[in-house]
Amino acid sequence: MGSQQANVNLAGYKAWLAMHAREDVVQRKQEATRYGWIASSEHHETVVAAVSELVSGIGAMLGQEPRLIEPEYIEQGIIIGTIEGNVRIQAICGDVTGQLGPEGFVIRASAGLTAIGANTPAGVLYGAFHLLRLLALGNKMENLSVIERPANALRMINQWDNVDGSIERGYAGKSIFYADGEIVFNPERIRDYARLLASVGMNAIAINNVNVHRLESHFITEAFLPRIAELAAIFRTYGIRLYLSINFASPIEVGGVLTADPLEVDVRQWWKERGAEIYSLIPDFGGFLVKADSENRPGPFTYGRNHADGANMLAEALAPYGGVVIWRCFVYDCKQDWRDRSTDRARAAYDHFMPLDGEFHSNVLLQIKNGPMDFQVREPVSPLFGAMERTNQLIEFQITQEYTGQQLHLCYLVPQWKAVLDFDTLAHGEASPVKRIVDGTFFGRPYGGFAAVSNIGCDGNWTGHLLAQANLYGYGRLAWNPELTAEAIAAEWAAQAISPNAQAVHTVCSMMMESLDIYESYTAPLGVGWMVNPDHHYGPNVDGYEYDKWGTYHFADRDGVGVDRTVASGTGYAGQYIGDNAKMYESLGRCPDELLLFFHHVPYTHKLQSGVTVIQHIYNTHFDGAERAAELAEKWQALRHLMPAGLYRQTEARLLEQAEHAKEWRDRINTYFYRKSGIADAWGRTIY
Ligand code: GCU
Repeated sequence: MGSQQANVNLAGYKAWLAMHAREDVVQRKQEATRYGWIASSEHHETVVAAVSELVSGIGAMLGQEPRLIEPEYIEQGIIIGTIEGNVRIQAICGDVTGQLGPEGFVIRASAGLTAIGANTPAGVLYGAFHLLRLLALGNKMENLSVIERPANALRMINQWDNVDGSIERGYAGKSIFYADGEIVFNPERIRDYARLLASVGMNAIAINNVNVHRLESHFITEAFLPRIAELAAIFRTYGIRLYLSINFASPIEVGGVLTADPLEVDVRQWWKERGAEIYSLIPDFGGFLVKADSENRPGPFTYGRNHADGANMLAEALAPYGGVVIWRCFVYDCKQDWRDRSTDRARAAYDHFMPLDGEFHSNVLLQIKNGPMDFQVREPVSPLFGAMERTNQLIEFQITQEYTGQQLHLCYLVPQWKAVLDFDTLAHGEASPVKRIVDGTFFGRPYGGFAAVSNIGCDGNWTGHLLAQANLYGYGRLAWNPELTAEAIAAEWAAQAISPNAQAVHTVCSMMMESLDIYESYTAPLGVGWMVNPDHHYGPNVDGYEYDKWGTYHFADRDGVGVDRTVASGTGYAGQYIGDNAKMYESLGRCPDELLLFFHHVPYTHKLQSGVTVIQHIYNTHFDGAERAAELAEKWQALRHLMPAGLYRQTEARLLEQAEHAKEWRDRINTYFYRKSGIADAWGRTIY
């Protein structure tokens, strides 16, 4: 706990809730008068938390905390609460209750009084954070009229934290939840994390790694549940339900049952007892997150059962309490022989799960990674989206930058997620973007949403790289409203977390907006992926995964590179898409350049749609990417005087490291392909 506590005062800790003091004195005074008072009659802990956020946030920004007053007396200021809980809020906002759903809110300002109302305490809290955001961003507050409700019912974060304190794929220090085999936490730090999550509308958290090891398998027993209940209580205040990742073999490893066969009576009974015990301590427990028959984790296959048998058995144990089972689709053969050209990892999720569409209980959701492989900088969208019509789905993103620079490189991922969400699956031959599939509306599913792997740890600024905070922020904002633009989200984050100064916001946004393209330019080309060092996945290693068992190959030889996934001559993966999408990927002429090597094996001399050859494209983008990476550092250096030194320095160091490392990437990739192909760079630049 010592190290967890020691860090909390470091620059960046308050992240986007920094609530910078307003510099414009006239405006500050005006707003301070507007928000001089605050009234709420409710004692629900979430409403109390909302009031306290407003008091401290407004106090920090305007230099004067609003004073509390009874609702019947307030004339000027903020009145906040559930619409049902207060007659005055009812009078101001009651006409829109039907539009808000369980988590939406309304903000209305007129004649000096601003009302924040919602149907539930969680909605009230979201409304409070929304008002603070508007104020922090310098909006005009006098005639506010806002109605918002989240697009997705489930807006979830997955911690890949282990009870030994390590974090799988964590790049920002140790866990804030665990140390040395125990649940150890600083409640203030957990509360601050909950505040950050709630401030962007997240409502669910799975607190342990999807790879559930020996000790964590006991989280669902009395040995750990009381402590977990304490964590659940902190998150509950902020409208966030707690979930646990479970080990499918728990009946054996924890319960002493002889099997984990999902159709065995004893096994089913054992899980039901677990359900009963968990809910007796955590009445609003969210449910289980399950990685089964995936990367050596146990699952129903051992017993000749399928994923639906496994998921439904768990779903029955949680159904009486309103819990859900989130079952991951990251299932593939991780012991493939690299000589075997017929097995294609990209096909696996679809091949496993498509035949089970419609077989899952109504409280099961399938969690599907955004792409068919594994969070590469560029992948096509998983073909399960649009194809599965009768199954609840969550899309899984990876906020932690496993393959995208490990929070040493700047890589703002929101544009990548936006492209995925906007991808038209062509289901039923209609406009059916991924965002409409996962929110449940397109197929009329009762339930859906977003999940993502968190990027935080006990580092003082939460995410290691300060600018990586924007990925967490942006993920939450997008899960709430996928229509927001990547630029708008970047600008919001920068103004709140770094400085409202226009030059700072402008520069940071432009850095963020080009960062994904820069990272993609100097790493694996044209969608082929995987040219990283095995295991830790940082840094270039073109053949690192080429002769391995993981199904991750680029097939470069002296003549060409890429994976033939066409129906005509390859693995047939392209055929998993619907209608014209399948045709587009199948066709060498129509396949988008950026995914060419994901779908096709082509000669180095193949001309891209852009007009340059594949080999020249590789050289161009790598020289260009490394140069642009160096410029990122220069752009940041121009902001030195516009922010506190602590914020400035930690980021400068990382940007300089990125600039150096980008050169290593450039030279390794260029040299590899030069040596393979024997084709010189048309511009005669240095290749080794
Ligand atoms: C990746 C990652 C693993 C993780 C896995 C998963 O393969 O490298 O660390 O466990 O994804 O999503 O389950």
